[in-house]
Amino acid sequence: MKVFIAGGTSGIGLALAERYLQQGASVAVCGRDLTKMEEIPFVDQLRCFEVDVCRLDDLQDAVSSFRTEGPLSLFINCTGSYADDVARQISYQEALAMLQVNMMGALNCFEVARAAMEGQSEGQVVVVASVSGTLHFPNSSLYSKTKRAAIQIADAYRRALIPFGIAVTVIAPGYMDTEKLREINRQDLSKKPFLISVDDAAQRIMIAIQQRKKLVIFPKRMKWLMACLGILPNVLLNKIMSRKAQWMKND
Ligand SMILES: NC(=O)c1ccc[n+]([C@@H]2O[C@H](COP(=O)([O-])OP(=O)(O)OC[C@H]3O[C@@H](n4cnc5c(N)ncnc54)[C@H](OP(=O)(O)O)[C@@H]3O)[C@@H](O)[C@H]2O)c1
Repeated sequence: MKVFIAGGTSGIGLALAERYLQQGASVAVCGRDLTKMEEIPFVDQLRCFEVDVCRLDDLQDAVSSFRTEGPLSLFINCTGSYADDVARQISYQEALAMLQVNMMGALNCFEVARAAMEGQSEGQVVVVASVSGTLHFPNSSLYSKTKRAAIQIADAYRRALIPFGIAVTVIAPGYMDTEKLREINRQDLSKKPFLISVDDAAQRIMIAIQQRKKLVIFPKRMKWLMACLGILPNVLLNKIMSRKAQWMKND
């Protein structure tokens, strides 16, 4: 089994890479900075590509080079750009990165995976979005809106890829205890509700992939919370979510 993980150089992507290796899969990862892989004990077992998913041709080359050794069974897009936008004070650069990576990058990943898998009559493309992208309300953060767009892109590809036997799975996780999340929250995750470990998240994602689910939202408590919030009128939802943002911001 060959697995390509875009954004597999840290966080949830790296945890998935390790688990698929343990299952005997041939695994490739990509990220923009491979120096952070130097300390990873299993790095020698991975094919590593220094590639920005916003650069379609580079991503295409990496996947083609990995695919020469056999069909590509699974493409997982774990790339993502997020910032501490609870304070609604993200910079232009952060906003641009979110739009580029979470939307253009997602589109590029689908396009490259589709091209690699179409002739195989099998395959699966997975995108790690966010639970925040499942909740629609006018004042949601830019990050949530970009993740919502990624979910919509996935829906469009799912329909288009059915005739080719290629499945599309959307993962919409709540808070996962990754280094990146810690870094942008100054190591304090005490105000992140229903936080789950990376190990737990990786396990849930792999089960969802194996079952070829269309959309998986976890943990369950976050899923139900979003479902309840989703039935509220926008005015009330806006108020609740801005109170939550204030609470998360203030110590
Ligand atoms: N942690 C959470 O609580 C949480 C919750 C919901 C959803 N998510 C989503 O889960 C995904 C992974 O998050 P994480 O916490 O594991 O963060 P992370 O450790 O920063 O992982 C992101 C990965 O994507 C790579 N990447 C970022 N931009 C890229 C680009 N333009 N081209 C290629 N690779 C790129 C990063 O490597 P380089 O920086 O070296 O490129 C890294 O390998 C993201 O999509 C995030 O939005 C996270």
